[in-house]
Amino acid sequence: MTLAVLTTRTRLEERLIFAALERRGIPYAQVDDRSLIHHLGDREVPRYLGVLNRIMSHTRSVYATRLFEATGHQVLNPSNVVETCGDKILTSLALTKAGIPTPRTVVAVTPDAAVEAIEQLGYPAVVKPAVGSWGRLLSKVNDRDAAETLIEHKQSLRSPIHNVYYLQEYIDKPDRDIRVIVLGDEPVAAVYRRSDHWITNTARGATTTSCPLTDDLVSLALRASAAVGGGMLAVDLLERSTGELLVTEVNHTMEFHGLAAATDVDVADLIVTHTLSTLERAA
Ligand SMILES: Nc1ncnc2c1ncn2[C@@H]1O[C@H](COP(=O)(O)OP(=O)(O)O)[C@@H](O)[C@H]1O
Ligand SMILES: [Mg+2]
Repeated sequence: MTLAVLTTRTRLEERLIFAALERRGIPYAQVDDRSLIHHLGDREVPRYLGVLNRIMSHTRSVYATRLFEATGHQVLNPSNVVETCGDKILTSLALTKAGIPTPRTVVAVTPDAAVEAIEQLGYPAVVKPAVGSWGRLLSKVNDRDAAETLIEHKQSLRSPIHNVYYLQEYIDKPDRDIRVIVLGDEPVAAVYRRSDHWITNTARGATTTSCPLTDDLVSLALRASAAVGGGMLAVDLLERSTGELLVTEVNHTMEFHGLAAATDVDVADLIVTHTLSTLERAA
């Protein structure tokens, strides 16, 4: 049977995954999410060995996962993990519920409450869209004037997600964050992402270097992964100036081009191994 790989674009990560599948002779079908049409309740749906989801839009990813699960397919990652990790509010709730150290985070659902909540956090504060990636629309707010203006601007954005406010203390970290790739119950690699800018996403130009997988890092990454439901995940961490490690977010459709540049670990190949062994266990 054929493995379906759901994609939006064919990035380096997808090309590496396809190459790993081809090396092993695993039949796969690249399914473009723009071509998906599901007649609900239809029994004549294509049958796949399983579904590896690499969709880039959160909303599309959630529904595509649910649609394939409804036709009896196992999707990696499963919908509960996609829903939690794709929404920073739900991720933070899962992390704090599990007692995992994370930056102090506040949620407010009206503009006035958001400004008040930023005042309570103190300055600088960080404001992020609850759904988003690549460091897009992240703001570092240094005073009340900036807070009021930012919140007013967010109000004028049409998407409802920008009218729920996810607010965080600013962590005075070194010029880097840490990304740990966890596959199942194994942290397979970690990198530092370094930048002169406070936002250290590789999509924003950060450079990567290998990071040792210390016991602390391993334990925290595994706890964070378990807290959001487990699977194939990239756990992002920040270091306080005291050295304390904090989990900021857990990514469910991780990019690993930065990691591929900095370490010898073949993440694409390990993703294929993890996918096949998970599907085998479920069969
Ligand atoms: N509270 C914070 N304090 C300091 N830096 C932060 C904070 N939150 C995020 N950052 C920086 O911004 C980057 C992107 O933040 P993140 O929450 O992972 O959003 P995204 O989903 O867009 O990647 C992080 O990798 C980190 O460098
Ligand atoms: Mg991130």
